[in-house]
Amino acid sequence: MNLRDAHSIEDLRAMARRRLPRGVFDFFDGGADDELTLRANRAGFEHIRLRPRVLVDVHAPDLNTRIVGADAAAPIVIAPTGAIGAGWPQADVAIARVAARLGLPYTLSTTATSSIEEVATRAGGRLWFQLYVLRDRTFCDTLMQRAAAAGYEGLVVTLDLATGGKRERDLRNGFTVPLRPHWRTLCDFASHPGWCWQMLRHGPPRFENLVGFEGSADPRASVAAKVGQALDAAFDWADLQRLRERWRRKLIVKGVTRCEDADRLAGLGVDGIWVSNHGGRQLDGAIATADALPDVVRAVRGRVPVLIDSGVRRGVDVVRALALGAQAVAVGRATLYGAAAAGEAGAERALQILFDELKRAMQLCGTPSVRDIDDGLLQADRGRAMP
Ligand SMILES: Cc1cc2nc3c(=O)[nH]c(=O)nc-3n(C[C@H](O)[C@H](O)[C@H](O)COP(=O)(O)O)c2cc1C
Repeated sequence: MNLRDAHSIEDLRAMARRRLPRGVFDFFDGGADDELTLRANRAGFEHIRLRPRVLVDVHAPDLNTRIVGADAAAPIVIAPTGAIGAGWPQADVAIARVAARLGLPYTLSTTATSSIEEVATRAGGRLWFQLYVLRDRTFCDTLMQRAAAAGYEGLVVTLDLATGGKRERDLRNGFTVPLRPHWRTLCDFASHPGWCWQMLRHGPPRFENLVGFEGSADPRASVAAKVGQALDAAFDWADLQRLRERWRRKLIVKGVTRCEDADRLAGLGVDGIWVSNHGGRQLDGAIATADALPDVVRAVRGRVPVLIDSGVRRGVDVVRALALGAQAVAVGRATLYGAAAAGEAGAERALQILFDELKRAMQLCGTPSVRDIDDGLLQADRGRAMP
């Protein structure tokens, strides 16, 4: 299948599925436990019905906006995704380059397969660094210093990973990072020769920001397992307050779904609140983000911008999220499917699809600019302040 034949994010997902060994695809695609939240995220968006305006001049839809205090070409951020070099060599750089070219912020994961410095040099643009808080605070400080030195504009602290979610597809497939071939995975790898050849030619991906990280005494543990074991489950409000005092650039907190937390975080002086349930990969049974968003927006009372991710697959989802009060959406799997299908060109295709769908949805909704999208578009029972 040619990239031009991919007309939706679902088409790119299908392409990625064909190209990748099952273990790798499932790692990208899967959710925790019974994948209830994974499915609920989609349903959360799909249930939102819009009330289009008519007789509005929408001949030139304008996607330009502000995201967390700076200009962006569309209300879309690239969410952090770790270990994605297992899908395509240097996938982090590939997606970051597309984001920079199109004028969107890119978030690099702690567990990225390209380094903080390499992404800054080879992609540039608006860069945020995502931090998993590890018990080894000195290591975390070093990561933050590296991000600041490389010119990253913001730090995204992920709060919904006190411990790793139970992703049963990975357990059944025997998937680990770094990739460790054994009898279960060998057949899987061997039946995808194109992918195998690429991995052999470029070398297996590794967590470039974690080189030298020990974190676990178990020498057999994979790096991913070491990170999982090293997460600081004791990280609390006082710790976040201290982190806020040390990191003077933009601080965005990711993984919020409760209005009480959002209210307190806004008071603490964060620069952005990112409503997320990690794409359904953590707490299975967690509320869908589209359902959590209105209460969070209400609680924040305009003090800080609110972003949302988990389940965004269509341009119209962006309209829905903005109508519910988000400043922007973030996408994890959408660009990841594209990159896993065809590298940089695939990631670009994913964003092209979302841009086109967003423009079309805006025209059909009678909203010439993304800045005009408000809760008046929502069905009465979903709105925040219906007339
Ligand atoms: C393969 C994969 C790896 C991820 N790695 C991270 C990560 O390292 N840090 C993080 O905060 N979130 C991570 N996430 C969660 C994303 O940042 C984001 O919250 C989620 O993908 C949004 O849902 P969506 O995929 O439906 O867009 C990961 C998600 C996926 C699919």
